[in-house]
Amino acid sequence: MEKKRSSFSSRIGFVLAAAGSAVGLGNIWRFPYLAAKYGGGIFLLVYLILAVTFGFALMITEITIGRKTGLSCIGAYRTLDKRFSFLGWLASLVPVIITPYYCVIGGWVMKYLFEYVSGGGAALAGGEYFTDFIGFAGNGMLSTPLFWFVLYVLITALVVLLGVEKGIEKVSKVMMPVLVVLSIIVAVFSLTMPGAIEGLKFYIVPDFSNFSGTTVLAAMGQMFYSMSLAMGIMITYGSYMPKESNLERSVGQIEIFDTAIAFIAGLMIVPAVVAFNGGTAEGINAGPGLMFGTLPKVFEQMWMGHIVGLVFFLLVLFAALTSSISLMETVVSIVHDKAHLPRRVCTVLVAIVVLLLGVPSCLGYGPWASVQIMGMAFLDFFDFISNSVLMPIVAFLTCILIGHVVGTKVVSDEVERNFPFRRKRLFEVMVRWVAPVLVVCILAGELLRAAQIIKI
Ligand code: PFF
Repeated sequence: MEKKRSSFSSRIGFVLAAAGSAVGLGNIWRFPYLAAKYGGGIFLLVYLILAVTFGFALMITEITIGRKTGLSCIGAYRTLDKRFSFLGWLASLVPVIITPYYCVIGGWVMKYLFEYVSGGGAALAGGEYFTDFIGFAGNGMLSTPLFWFVLYVLITALVVLLGVEKGIEKVSKVMMPVLVVLSIIVAVFSLTMPGAIEGLKFYIVPDFSNFSGTTVLAAMGQMFYSMSLAMGIMITYGSYMPKESNLERSVGQIEIFDTAIAFIAGLMIVPAVVAFNGGTAEGINAGPGLMFGTLPKVFEQMWMGHIVGLVFFLLVLFAALTSSISLMETVVSIVHDKAHLPRRVCTVLVAIVVLLLGVPSCLGYGPWASVQIMGMAFLDFFDFISNSVLMPIVAFLTCILIGHVVGTKVVSDEVERNFPFRRKRLFEVMVRWVAPVLVVCILAGELLRAAQIIKI
């Protein structure tokens, strides 16, 4: 007899786990610097509009496909149309590529948290701490990124091992509410820094002169990343969703959660960094360096800065963990569905593969820095291939499949099982016409950007 598929125990458990997947490093590290770079308030506005239209349509599509078929992405796409089985394989590739490098960054977060907890916060603010750390310049086991990466993978795997309800749902129910409270506390502290109000204005007041096609492209790219779209995660989580719950309402809540945390993350980071920078936004679009390099320096100057730093990295760790858990769970569920091995065996196998695949990303800024792919370090290359190439392709083909091959009714019927589908018209227009065009623009924009970087 077939074993019953795991499932979340309640709708709220599902919403918190899916929001846990969505809210991650993307919200806290990436969103604030993009918002600052692409015009503050205007970026926020564009992002918000995209999230409730384009993002909504793609998210409800994925969750519905999962709930309807009760399968992870390979089986789910195959059930919808045999010719689209390859799309399931393509989508599965995305979490396989992302999980290892995401765990490398998660390991960095743990190291920073450890330093604040053990009283080493001041060192983090020192000159080139971050570059030295990822460059393996330190001595001893605790100074090597490899140690923290392995520990992070083991923690992620442990939660996945405990299962959907006893592991993922339980952890999300604790971590997500705590994350919200801690974010608000840190944001309040940041905003009380002298000079922060200037930064706040910069972050919130739209600067229309900064609006351009790139603002829209950047906001769209960020939305994919942030909402965990086009990588099978939402299909997998949808497959664990109770059949009787309100799908549309859940998607709305996940969107609100994700966008609110991104907005608060901006409040935590941008005003404080602008204040620290002497009131200008110059230099705050530093990417990874912003959170790991600049922010500890800002905390060093803040009242109770070491405590704020500790709280900040704890909340980043929660955000990262709930996301890496969803990434790993997606891979485990695919292997489980395909190989018919016990879930636990699949989890152990996946964890081993993640450990092996993560090593190049972990060593890529240090001992293996001389090895570059298309001019990029391993981690950047994996990030580029997954986020800039594969995800737009998967999203485009999903829109074609639902909008033009099997028909949007497949989705709307499932959404309407027990509840009315309020944004049905919007969903249909988005999936059929608007989303595919926008996704092609993202792909073209990303490829052009890459061509410039590698100077083709
Ligand atoms: N959505 C999560 C985040 O914003 O961090 C997790 C994530 C998934 C990040 C996929 C990046 C990514 F490519």
